Amino acid sequence: MGIKLIKIAAVYFVIGVLLGMYMSISHSYTYSSIHAHINLLGWASLALAGIVYYLFPAAGESAAGKVHFWLHNIGLPIMMIGLFLLMSGTESVEPVVAVGGVLVTLGILAFLYNVLANVREGARR
Ligand code: HEM
Ligand code: HEM
Repeated sequence: MGIKLIKIAAVYFVIGVLLGMYMSISHSYTYSSIHAHINLLGWASLALAGIVYYLFPAAGESAAGKVHFWLHNIGLPIMMIGLFLLMSGTESVEPVVAVGGVLVTLGILAFLYNVLANVREGARR
């Protein structure tokens, strides 16, 4: 689980940085909040969670870990694609962004529960 998350995070990193390069070159900042969240919720958050799950296998292998993994990885692309369409002018897509955001948030609540329940001294790799 930890290793999978680190690999997924690296893919988000490349997408986020490419979008940053595009914005810099074109001087077009319409997508800056997509860039910010791909980098922060995709690269930074998933890589950190991956490292936590790798260091604490009890957290990585738990049901809460799986719930976090799926909610975060299903919610984030929904939120980012929705935000892309919203920023491109399709205003009717706003509820889709909200659904994606809520899924990610629920995933992060599962992450909190998981960390509190399964990350402890003595359980480290
Ligand atoms: C080659 C790499 C990158 C390039 C070229 C780049 C470029 C940009 C550009 C052009 C903006 C818009 C600035 C503006 O609206 O005035 C921006 C915003 C932002 N970037 Fe990047 N970025 C890069 C990497 C990253 C990384 C790795 C992160 C985080 C892990 C990051 C986080 C952010 C955030 C949070 C904002 C929003 C700032 C705000 O709205 O005030 N960027 N970036
Ligand atoms: C489901 C989770 C999240 C939701 C729904 C969310 C939503 C939002 C919204 C609506 C904005 C304002 C965007 C704008 O004015 O253009 C924003 C800005 C921002 N958020 Fe988040 N956010 C989330 C998670 C995070 C996380 C985890 C981080 C950092 C690790 C973060 C960092 C930022 C930053 C740096 C900005 C300002 C950059 C910008 O103007 O785009 N967000 N967020």
